[in-house]
Amino acid sequence: MPAIIDKITNALHSSDSTASSAPAFDPSKVTVIYVLGGPGAGKGTQSARLVSDFGFCHLSAGDLLRAEQNREGSEYGSLIRTHIKEGTVVPMEVTIKLLQNAMKAALQDKAADPLWANGRGLFLIDGFPRKMDQALKFDEDVCPSSLVLFYATTEEVMLGRLLERGKTSGREDDNVESIKKRFRTYNEQTMPVINHYKALNQVAEIDSSGTVEEVHDQTYKTISKLLAAKPHDGAAEAQA
Ligand code: C5P
Ligand code: MG
Repeated sequence: MPAIIDKITNALHSSDSTASSAPAFDPSKVTVIYVLGGPGAGKGTQSARLVSDFGFCHLSAGDLLRAEQNREGSEYGSLIRTHIKEGTVVPMEVTIKLLQNAMKAALQDKAADPLWANGRGLFLIDGFPRKMDQALKFDEDVCPSSLVLFYATTEEVMLGRLLERGKTSGREDDNVESIKKRFRTYNEQTMPVINHYKALNQVAEIDSSGTVEEVHDQTYKTISKLLAAKPHDGAAEAQA
């Protein structure tokens, strides 16, 4: 996917910014990769591998929402629970705030990590943006994303994986009824997000029908290229 990498490299080297107000995190230091794909496509599994490969901080929007749902005293608990059960998208303000707080905490926690020196950060944001409003708001106010890792497979494969996971996940939405609703939300609201980034030439699509290892091999190559293209990046140097 050289065209994508070229475009990202140009964006990373470019110093002029046309944004009217600066995002919360400096994109010359903080790299954000969105990880998208249908439910059960393998986003979480692959993200976990990339944490150990490249030193990313993996933030799953769904996990952050579930933690907030279960946090005693949360004013959003019942709102989040309803959306998750129905497979619909929680209002973006809630999710963006949780992500922004988690990013800030990770930048502080990992400040001593050489890969994260001088305010540098490497984030995989998994299961986000699920809807166009989240994408536009996060890119503008929080941090512009560098790439979308898009895991594509069939509903049949995803359904099989989710039902298998449902035997032990304890998740209230890993059942056939919720899964059907999640597929609908994905097709109607998340596919337009993926198409938006495709039009910007910012999507690396990976067929995730294969084994974890096969999908990981593909992903590893894509991320290695991205990080190697990024100037002054400790992760790229460490890989060299
Ligand atoms: O990504 P995950 O499958 O863990 O998400 C579970 C649920 O959390 C989604 O079906 C949706 O209800 C909610 N969610 C959301 N906005 C996101 C990510 C997840 O509303 N960006
Ligand atoms: Mg997940």
